[in-house]
Amino acid sequence: MSIKIDFNNMMSENIPQGITDAELTKTAAIANKAKAAVDSSRGLNMLGWTELPYNQTAVVKDINEYVKQIEDFCEYFVVLGIGGSALGAVALYNALKHTYYNELPKAKRKHPRFYCIDDADPERLNALFDIIEPQKTVFNVITKSGATSETMSQYLIVSDYLEQKLGANASKHIVATTSENSGNLIKIAKEKGYKTFFIPSSVGGRFSVLSPVGLLPAAAIGIDIAALLNGAKDMDRICQNSDFKNNPALICATLMYLAYQNGANISVMMPYSYGLKTVSDWYCQLWGESLGKAVNRLGEKINVGQTPVKALGVTDQHSQIQLYVEGPSDKVVTFIRVEKFRSEVTIPNGCEAYPDVNFLCGHSLGELTNVEQAATEYALKKAGKMNYTITLNTIDEYNLGSLLYFFQMQTAYIGEFFNINAYNQPGVEEGKNAAYALLGRHGYENKASEISQSGKDIKYIIEI
Ligand code: PA5
Repeated sequence: MSIKIDFNNMMSENIPQGITDAELTKTAAIANKAKAAVDSSRGLNMLGWTELPYNQTAVVKDINEYVKQIEDFCEYFVVLGIGGSALGAVALYNALKHTYYNELPKAKRKHPRFYCIDDADPERLNALFDIIEPQKTVFNVITKSGATSETMSQYLIVSDYLEQKLGANASKHIVATTSENSGNLIKIAKEKGYKTFFIPSSVGGRFSVLSPVGLLPAAAIGIDIAALLNGAKDMDRICQNSDFKNNPALICATLMYLAYQNGANISVMMPYSYGLKTVSDWYCQLWGESLGKAVNRLGEKINVGQTPVKALGVTDQHSQIQLYVEGPSDKVVTFIRVEKFRSEVTIPNGCEAYPDVNFLCGHSLGELTNVEQAATEYALKKAGKMNYTITLNTIDEYNLGSLLYFFQMQTAYIGEFFNINAYNQPGVEEGKNAAYALLGRHGYENKASEISQSGKDIKYIIEI
């Protein structure tokens, strides 16, 4: 495995607010208990994600066969989904494909263009209709519940559009990824004859990137999904180490937990690679939705959770970093650094008469990026702000599978530290239910009257 995690700047030797060795040793018992809890639930309840690297041989075969079937006509592969049903596929696409993949000519691209609509913005969907050709498009509708308003609305619009354009052939252009035995989408898919892939009931949205939710779109655009799963498998094996200091996800969960106890209630994810920018979006959902909880398993009100924030190196060095270095000590910054970029650019000579510019010449952009990461890490350390750095040798399927699995395991362990259910999302459900009520869905009448009673006071509204 070619991933390195450096947590020197989480420790009190380097950062006064940091964690002492004594604190780490004292927390070992809690860490071991967290690991035992995760271990004993592997594959059970909502921990089906732990088994995805191992139990999908048939699924991978089915996905690859389906991708072959659509290959001769599919020029546009469009994901319709939201939250955990979209963020993983987008992260894989951006990390593993050419930065301007969709703009490449077919001979270089080799696979369909990729789009994801993960909202209900009418302009965005209409804009998509402006650029696709229906007879060359496959829409992958992804929803585990088969009930999410945004996704089901997109589905209704798209199926109507396809039926109008393609008539009886429309069903070949929709593939559904959903629950095998519950929800409406599976019933609709059977009625209409769509190809289907299943999300195991024990895998929640934000832990589903390595299920068909992420694997099908990835395979459709030529990503090696077996290598992704191999990376996850190897990370899982390493995370089975019961010495918590040698279990990367467990030690990092412990550090984050202790940092949170010391007042770091914000987790900044800052990759120094444009390709990894949307891995931060994926991480923010995983961290925020899993760990932001009002009550623990005993029903006690605890209102825990670190607020995840995304930043991008080097871009955000010229915006957010000022706050991170000089603002409150309420954050842990996680840097992701890439040792070897997949392509390089050397900064040419040409400014010999200007020493203040000339010093850049001869260096590469990758070098500049990594020097800036090291410099920012140093500035944070000097200011006494906690941070740690994950270094990937390079960005490829194997390393990305390992990285995503690492974050999932770290999240699961922290959930145990807090003694919370990391797999539910009552706060999200509340909003989803309120939207159903406001749209007049049958069965939500009480919610509708509850909402109308909590009406807004006109005196606090300014209309200009
Ligand atoms: O992590 C989660 O569970 C959520 O973000 C869901 O993925 C999101 O709400 C979409 O749900 P569904 O797949 O049921 O449409």
